[in-house]
Amino acid sequence: MEVERVQAIALSSLTKDSIPTEFIRPEEEQPAITTFHGPVPEIPVIDLDDHDQEKVIRLIANASRDWGIFQVVNHGIPFDLIEKLQQVGKEFFDLPQEEKELYAKPSGAQTIEGYGSKLGKDLQGKKNWADHLFHRIWPPSRINYQFWPQNPPSYRAVNEEYAEYMRRVVDKLFKCLSIGLGLAPHAIKEGAGGEEMEYLMKINYYPTCPRPDLALGVASHTDLSAITVLVPNDVPGLQVFKDGLWIDAKYIPGALIIHIGDQIEILSNGKYKAVLHRTTVDKEKTRMSWPVFLEPPGEFVVGPLPQLADEQNPPKYKAKRFKDYSYCKLNKLPQ
Ligand code: OGA
Ligand code: NI
Repeated sequence: MEVERVQAIALSSLTKDSIPTEFIRPEEEQPAITTFHGPVPEIPVIDLDDHDQEKVIRLIANASRDWGIFQVVNHGIPFDLIEKLQQVGKEFFDLPQEEKELYAKPSGAQTIEGYGSKLGKDLQGKKNWADHLFHRIWPPSRINYQFWPQNPPSYRAVNEEYAEYMRRVVDKLFKCLSIGLGLAPHAIKEGAGGEEMEYLMKINYYPTCPRPDLALGVASHTDLSAITVLVPNDVPGLQVFKDGLWIDAKYIPGALIIHIGDQIEILSNGKYKAVLHRTTVDKEKTRMSWPVFLEPPGEFVVGPLPQLADEQNPPKYKAKRFKDYSYCKLNKLPQ
């Protein structure tokens, strides 16, 4: 095994109160110094099943403009399915290391699918206190089952069922985002790849960390996706940057956390904002999260929707193939 997984580093750090230097963030990033603890407004929580659908659209549009993130409840995904998704993901990470390595992202591969420890490079050479597993769950033609764990045996059925429910929620969200900007209901979905849009499941595994004051699970970033639909476990850790402060996301059992990603910021010509976020880690508890990234196909060109750009409001972003956008972002090159 060439790469040392953070899960293994965490195990060997159990009896220590130190972590390897590559995990120690510079002061301006350290969560103990930079987390805001005063009274702050909370990330908006939206009841998707509210009978007043105009209100739902307004709340989603406002949250996407002012925060770039919101939580949804009454979204239609059964709570016990979310619990099963969490259970099978946890069982995968509890497997012996050799078995997890069977799903390792092939080194030098173009794909981002597979089990691994770090995506892209960090400018300061710092590492995230996290391991992950990536695999697509939709559309069926883009699924590579070689990256789906065979163990536990129910892993596949649970993830397939989750993908089905996810599609309904996502369609509703895209409609609300479009109507909220005065566009036709399908405008944003079509602009992000329509039915070809790809659903990329990621499981984040953040082991216990002896120095949660110094390390980060995931350093601050915006997501590449159009939107990201995330469920966390009950260990808090997601933080969002709002009005210059890093604030904690509240854990709401069964809620979905919706992140506006770069592609919607671009399509909306900046009317909706991709949220800057990061995660902290815990001394005693393993944090896990299950984001699904909704992405255009690689060849698909995303740019500001013509309906949202005119002479007074010129396009603020270039139109680019999604794969070129991803390449630049992951390699920290200008767009
Ligand atoms: C990510 C991410 C947040 C979380 O994987 O892109 O931001 O709560 N995860 O784990
Ligand atoms: Ni993210």
